[in-house]
Amino acid sequence: MACAFRRSIACQLSRVLDLPPENLIKSISAVPISRKEEVADFQLSVDSLLENNSDHSRPDTQVQAKRLAEKLKCDAVVSEISTGQGTVNFKINRELLTKTVLQQVIKDGSKYGLKSELFSGLPQKKIVVEFSSPNVAKKFHVGHLRSTIIGNFIANLKEALGHQVTRINYLGDWGMQFGLLGTGFQLFGYEEKLQSSPLQHLFERLGIHFDEYSGESFYREKSQEVLKLLDSKGLLQKTIQGTAIVDLSGNGDPSSICTVMRSDGTSLYATRDLAAAIDRMDKYNFDTMIYVTDKGQKKHFQQVFQMLQIMGYDWAERCQHVPFGVVQGMKTRRGEVTFLEDVLNEIQSRMLQNMASIKTTKELENPQETAEKVGLAALIIQDFKGLLLSDYQFSWDRVFQSRGDTGVFLQYTHARLYSLEETFGCGYLNEFNAACLQEPQSVSILQHLLRFDEVLYRSSQDLQPRHIASYLLTLSHLAGMAHKTLHIKDSPPEVAGARLHLFRAVRSVLANGMKLLGITPVCRM
Ligand code: ARG
Repeated sequence: MACAFRRSIACQLSRVLDLPPENLIKSISAVPISRKEEVADFQLSVDSLLENNSDHSRPDTQVQAKRLAEKLKCDAVVSEISTGQGTVNFKINRELLTKTVLQQVIKDGSKYGLKSELFSGLPQKKIVVEFSSPNVAKKFHVGHLRSTIIGNFIANLKEALGHQVTRINYLGDWGMQFGLLGTGFQLFGYEEKLQSSPLQHLFERLGIHFDEYSGESFYREKSQEVLKLLDSKGLLQKTIQGTAIVDLSGNGDPSSICTVMRSDGTSLYATRDLAAAIDRMDKYNFDTMIYVTDKGQKKHFQQVFQMLQIMGYDWAERCQHVPFGVVQGMKTRRGEVTFLEDVLNEIQSRMLQNMASIKTTKELENPQETAEKVGLAALIIQDFKGLLLSDYQFSWDRVFQSRGDTGVFLQYTHARLYSLEETFGCGYLNEFNAACLQEPQSVSILQHLLRFDEVLYRSSQDLQPRHIASYLLTLSHLAGMAHKTLHIKDSPPEVAGARLHLFRAVRSVLANGMKLLGITPVCRM
């Protein structure tokens, strides 16, 4: 697929430029589709080549692109070479493009895009993702909901890329009476509480599981050891109030002071995080540990990582905080909400009402369940459309539009494509006539499918789900347009078969992407 094409282009370039193809592959990218004009399939940015080059004179990239293009030839794979703004553009042989992409989507199934050359040579890592982490004694609020869906996405993506992922829910249980009792009782208490809570319910729909539930109170004793260790390293300073601090700047700068012990000798949030991090390193020997919380805790994590560093734990640099912004204005009909059960109830009732206007809803076996899946998709897409760090204004109306860029639209598209397969059957033969898929609508879809690996790669680099979310929305718009023009009924069997293959590939990639984001695709709504 995409990578086979990239490799083939890279091989030709390598002969002309006298550079190994491996160095060129990442400079070749699939061209995003455009609504206005036909685009080439791949492009090489001359700028990125010059970065590899030791020649810093930086000649005009336009001229460079032209010169380079003149030296290249069309072959069995590349059917057209042109130049753009500092790029050399490649058009792939149309039938080859169609065949290769569709066959790859079918063959790789849920691994489509993940087997790409962009990920090859990626070492398998041990990754701990800590997310959700509500406070047991208090109610679960919207910030924890965000942590839950973002952390789940990061863990899904890392796992899909072949890493060994441990998911931890670190419960803030401090202050609960049973936190003072034995560990067995603590665990029992948590489980009981969790099972009956809407939180558990959320995890089951979203299909979220945790490998470890731990809590702040587990680290009471270990925190005392951390204090001793800090003291033995001469890092602990007692204040006149009787508390103990660590001065991270070394010069008394108040903004760099972290309190680690109360005057009664007990630990604080930061101390327990130090103990928890050390414990997890012992237990999991992680290569990376990711904490997902709201951006208000940025400084807290900076200080924790810095303290680990000065305590001599070099692995502190493997710890990473993924902060997210605040959701404003999430109100139900009954008023301002901050709590999970209200959000879940509101989603379900609003979605059921929306779905009542769709005629197939009547035939649904379990409309409540569907309403919830569609509603959660809506919530997740709303959350994943922007940068994680940005705050956003929540609006139920916007979230639930079935035609806009929403999760409802993704679910709707998925259900429609599913019913198309059900109605016409697909035969699931790998044989289809690629010559029947040459309309602009088909080509745009193929070009878009070609880019999936690059989008996954981007999200894996910056841990932002928005690349995938916007990719899936575009895919759904393309599918909607194609659905209108590329009819199946009344088309000759060969054409109908090829189109069904195309739609099936779209549904497969759509479902893969949705699942990565933590959405369960519905087959009917
Ligand atoms: N329970 C905390 C809160 O609700 C979040 C815990 C984040 N994780 C951590 N290791 N400190 O604010």
